[in-house]
Amino acid sequence: MEPSQVNVRVVTHEDELTACQALRHQIFVVEQGIPAHLDADGLDDDALHSIAYEGDLAVATGRLVVSGGHGVLARIAVVPSHRGQGLGQRIVQHLESMARERGVPEVSLHPHAHLERFYRRLGYEKVPGTSVVGAHRLITMVKSLD
Ligand SMILES: CC(C)(COP(=O)(O)OP(=O)(O)OC[C@H]1O[C@@H](n2cnc3c(N)ncnc32)[C@H](O)[C@@H]1OP(=O)(O)O)[C@@H](O)C(=O)NCCC(=O)NCCS
Repeated sequence: MEPSQVNVRVVTHEDELTACQALRHQIFVVEQGIPAHLDADGLDDDALHSIAYEGDLAVATGRLVVSGGHGVLARIAVVPSHRGQGLGQRIVQHLESMARERGVPEVSLHPHAHLERFYRRLGYEKVPGTSVVGAHRLITMVKSLD
């Protein structure tokens, strides 16, 4: 199926959030070895979530948390079979559009250092410094939505 046939939309139902969380568990906890408690950080209920469906199958997700006028994008994940087709980019842009709709002037995220180029191409700039979470080296990147 072509990427254009994948439908990206905001999560509005509990079962869609459950699908996002299952996808994240598979990718971050099982595939990448990130401790489950770091993924399930308690912020999901206060967040806006994007979900991508191919038919009935959830194939990508991402999350936006708005706090104090600032937006944080996180949990951006695409199933392995659908990577490299622009879906990660569509999820990021969908999250940004939700932030814009809420008048958020700037968003940030904390990706793995090896994803700097991916986010730079989407308009993000790296903030100096890195943090280490287990075996993972994370950076901080920001983007103005003006
Ligand atoms: C990172 C991720 C979301 C990208 O999704 P995607 O749909 O494959 O991305 P797109 O098709 O929009 O863009 C592809 C680009 O992603 C970048 N990219 C993806 N995975 C990468 C990796 N492991 N290392 C370096 N760059 C990577 C490349 O720059 C690639 O560009 P190219 O096609 O010129 O090589 C996806 O690979 C994924 O789910 N990874 C596992 C979860 C994860 O690490 N999420 C990021 C949390 S911040």
